[in-house]
Amino acid sequence: MTALLFGGDYNPEQWPESGWDEDVALMKQAGVNTVTLGVFAWSSIEPREGEFEFGWLDRAIELMHANGIGVILATPTASPPPWFSLAHPEGLPVTADGTRLAHGSRDTYNPASAAYRSAAARVATALAERYGTHPALRAWHLHNEYGTVSYGPEAERGFRRWLEAKYGTLAELNRAWHTAFWSQGYGAWGEILPPQQTQYLHNPTQLIDFKRFAAQLLLDCYQEQIDAVKRLSPGVPVTTNFMLPTWLHYDPWAFGAASDLVTVDHYLDARGVEGAAHAALGADLARSFGRGRPWLLMEQAMNLTMRGGKLLAKEPGAGLRTSLQHVARGSEGALFFQWRTAPAGSEAFHSTLVPHAGPDTRVFREVCELGAVLGSLPGVALPLGSPAASGGPVVRARVAIAWSADAWWAADSPGLPSRDHDFYADVRRVHRALWLLGRTADFVRLDDPRLAEYALVLVPSHLAASDAEAAGLSSFVAGGGHAVVWHLSGTFDDELHIELGGYAGRFAPLLGIRVEELLPLEDGETVALSSGAAGSAWSELLDTRGAAVEAEYAEGLAAGHPAITANRHGDGLARYVSTRLDDAALTALLERALAEAGVERELPEAGAGLEVVRRQGADGEYVFVINHTSEPRTVELPGADAVTGAALPAPFELAAGEFRVVRPA
Ligand code: GLA
Ligand code: GLA
Repeated sequence: MTALLFGGDYNPEQWPESGWDEDVALMKQAGVNTVTLGVFAWSSIEPREGEFEFGWLDRAIELMHANGIGVILATPTASPPPWFSLAHPEGLPVTADGTRLAHGSRDTYNPASAAYRSAAARVATALAERYGTHPALRAWHLHNEYGTVSYGPEAERGFRRWLEAKYGTLAELNRAWHTAFWSQGYGAWGEILPPQQTQYLHNPTQLIDFKRFAAQLLLDCYQEQIDAVKRLSPGVPVTTNFMLPTWLHYDPWAFGAASDLVTVDHYLDARGVEGAAHAALGADLARSFGRGRPWLLMEQAMNLTMRGGKLLAKEPGAGLRTSLQHVARGSEGALFFQWRTAPAGSEAFHSTLVPHAGPDTRVFREVCELGAVLGSLPGVALPLGSPAASGGPVVRARVAIAWSADAWWAADSPGLPSRDHDFYADVRRVHRALWLLGRTADFVRLDDPRLAEYALVLVPSHLAASDAEAAGLSSFVAGGGHAVVWHLSGTFDDELHIELGGYAGRFAPLLGIRVEELLPLEDGETVALSSGAAGSAWSELLDTRGAAVEAEYAEGLAAGHPAITANRHGDGLARYVSTRLDDAALTALLERALAEAGVERELPEAGAGLEVVRRQGADGEYVFVINHTSEPRTVELPGADAVTGAALPAPFELAAGEFRVVRPA
């Protein structure tokens, strides 16, 4: 049987070899069964151009193998060694202000540079030639958190070629970019630049096109490494670790499609129930980018992570709960950055599995406890990169939140009517509200045919929508789906042109409204609605074109006009929310939308910090029940405790901070 993976990044090259045996002894004590080797180890693997030193890596891999520990092998290409950048200065990235960066940190590479790309492919190929069929190898971890953007001459040439392929003619580009504004008309392809630092606001369409181009470059880099290793390492799944949810330099849907297995890094930015909501968000994104297949948590932290310039410690037990949340939501294990805390270097204070103080610590004791729990759940794990045994998604959600890289990038455009449009914050808020209401959510593209599998689709801050996305949402609702669309969504097409005739224009026919005027609110200003709710950040002057009014503005410039509407469209229902509702009103609105769409809680008692998730394992269904609150909770779920094998009383009690993994009866 496959086991859930447990372990993390291991960097033997940073330690004297005399200490490796102690590492292995501690790994076995903790139940570690997987390590990731080689992340950032380029200068140890290829100390001089074209000269490889595999001795240490041979010994490390053999040591792991001899002790029954599997290896995820990374290509070290996120950190080119100093010799590389001295020999190939064009392989260093250029910032938007024209500065060519120097080596001295990590991620300092230029994805547009042929020298970088061939050096990366060379080291990936050398690793695959040597270890591609090694029996300890479980997966390829290509690169680390792709995300460097360069604005220099190498990117400039590629950007022009990309634009020529996209637009065909300069006339078409000038139209799409609306270059007549501020005298930007281009008379030759060679006049076009990446959006380097300029005097005032950038052209928004140029900016989003450059983001798309830069995303494609990173995908090309990834694909080159996939091609290099797949040839030499047949059947071994390939992946790259996404940095979720805030690191958006590529399109995770495209990266997910290129990967055999989606893997993610996730670091909590809050404690308690808020932290748990954050973990659920990262896990649901990961599962969704893998299109419902099982995925893998490649990195997280047992304890301290940086948040706003300070280390944030986790409460006792939180490392265990967070790991189980990820497994519940489809992860094939729980891996960490990193095995042992280094005595020096830029991240010497970052949490690990073996802290500076050594194994006789709270953290290491919790690591051992986690290893024991994961080790007692072998029936949950599926072979890496395989679909769920049921053939369906590993976790089935009936509500989805619309997510696209374009929507996020559009919300980052210059010149928007309010700086309050924040795609990530708005998506997170809606996801959190669903989580508190005991519903598991997926993320979905509006042009994905799988939209029809959901009962309810939520569309916050989706400023840009392509024709296919607008049509996708419309036919979803026409076919009986329910939707909630928030203000300004569908205002732009994918060229960031505003649909004329009223804002939210791409979705307006479906919503049965016409938005005439935008009325952003001042910081701290609120506006009362007829329902008793309060709106903030945003209001609009809108009228209905067939929709029913559910709440009106009771004050302010839009007083007497609709604030929330609902429109029957075909067999479905589409709501529009034109302001940012307070938490209670948002919850009430979602509760109503969920009830109307027939999306039920996982258990009636789920929600408000009692997390309940049903996932497919190799040998059937498991229900993960985690009490993130500080109160005991009662759970009515007949079945057996999957960790101990004991039958559970029905109902059973779950103390504050406790969990149960249940084989339902
Ligand atoms: C200035 C400029 C105009 C326009 C407005 C917008 O007045 O001259 O072109 O940009 O600002 O506020
Ligand atoms: C990322 C990197 C790791 C480490 C952690 C620290 O996830 O992949 O190497 O730097 O961040 O938070």
